[in-house]
Amino acid sequence: MVDALSSFAGLARDLRDVQAPTALAPAGSLAPRGLVRMATRWLGLELPSPVVLGASPLTDDVDTLARVVDAGAGAIVMRSLFEEQLALEQMAAHHHIDAHIDTDAEARTFLPDSSVFSLGPEPYLRQLERIRARVAVPVIASLNGTTHGGWTRFARRLADAGASAIELNLYDVATDPSRSAADLEAAQLDVVEAVVGAAGVPVTVKLSAFYGSLPHFASQLAKRGARGVAVYNRFYQPDIDLDALDVTTNLHLSTSAELPLRLHALAILSGRVDLELACTGGVATGLDAAKAILCGATVVQVVSAVLKEGAPRMAKIVAELTGWLTTMGYAEVGEARGVMDLTRSPDPHAWERLNYMKMLRGWRPRG
Ligand SMILES: Cc1cc2nc3c(=O)[nH]c(=O)nc-3n(C[C@H](O)[C@H](O)[C@H](O)COP(=O)(O)O)c2cc1C
Repeated sequence: MVDALSSFAGLARDLRDVQAPTALAPAGSLAPRGLVRMATRWLGLELPSPVVLGASPLTDDVDTLARVVDAGAGAIVMRSLFEEQLALEQMAAHHHIDAHIDTDAEARTFLPDSSVFSLGPEPYLRQLERIRARVAVPVIASLNGTTHGGWTRFARRLADAGASAIELNLYDVATDPSRSAADLEAAQLDVVEAVVGAAGVPVTVKLSAFYGSLPHFASQLAKRGARGVAVYNRFYQPDIDLDALDVTTNLHLSTSAELPLRLHALAILSGRVDLELACTGGVATGLDAAKAILCGATVVQVVSAVLKEGAPRMAKIVAELTGWLTTMGYAEVGEARGVMDLTRSPDPHAWERLNYMKMLRGWRPRG
């Protein structure tokens, strides 16, 4: 029988032991475009590099974006426009709800507080145009919604304003005991189909980690016309303040510790569903990016690392990835894609239940 555990440990060790090139580009400078070809195709778009700036408030400032692109980002995903924002605008336009809100306190209770959303639909379109005019890489607009409705038609306006693709974030928080997972998934698939139908540009879907069968749901996404999937959204995790006896809502930036969950998802999807894979979450270094690509990612999206250190961090990630691929002798980044996925890994059991059993049974306390 294949020794799944030792093989998996070997993979981890091999990746860890590969030395990053010592001569990384100085922070903020252009990443070296050396021997390996970093250009990649994602969602039918030509990207100069597979390292993408993920959805975040970083896209609110075009000067920052220009620096991140100079540092080697291959594309930009804008922060999300929420279904609630679009619905609110429609309601305001059709029913003059704004006027009621000003005078009727009760009317506010069923509407989301618009102050939590920084860019409304029209400003979002203007920002998209500004970004397009400023950077040469593809700009992906982001929609966030879970219920079927007129808001999905906004995808077309995003495309008309210059979005090269749409990332649809299906962030959902299931709290209703009467709604089954199958109900929720069916509703989400309808949203995907509606956005795909409206957009006229490729649509990639950003998922949370909570699906009973990720491969099955992903294959359904493909059937509904999605071109790609991004794994995983970071789930909103409120905490408890024991002194105030209140629920706290902190947003912690990620570290590389969040990557392995994504690697597993990528590895089990790669080559098995008709979707292009993006990794989002826990990509903090070029070696993290290399691992995600080996597991099947076409692109990696980075947010936390760039929020912490700005464009210089993007340059480091691209340089380190470039260096690793060069050291390994790859001629182009696409050659590394999926080499360690479930279908091609020297030990497929490393990604499956068998390895979990071996790991638990083989564990011994230290000392
Ligand atoms: C401050 C902040 C704002 C974010 N805003 C969005 C958003 O508007 N839409 C979205 O899809 N993801 C959003 N995200 C999630 C990121 O795009 C990304 O998926 C997540 O942070 C994991 O990547 P990371 O580990 O590189 O940070 C946001 C993340 C942060 C930290």
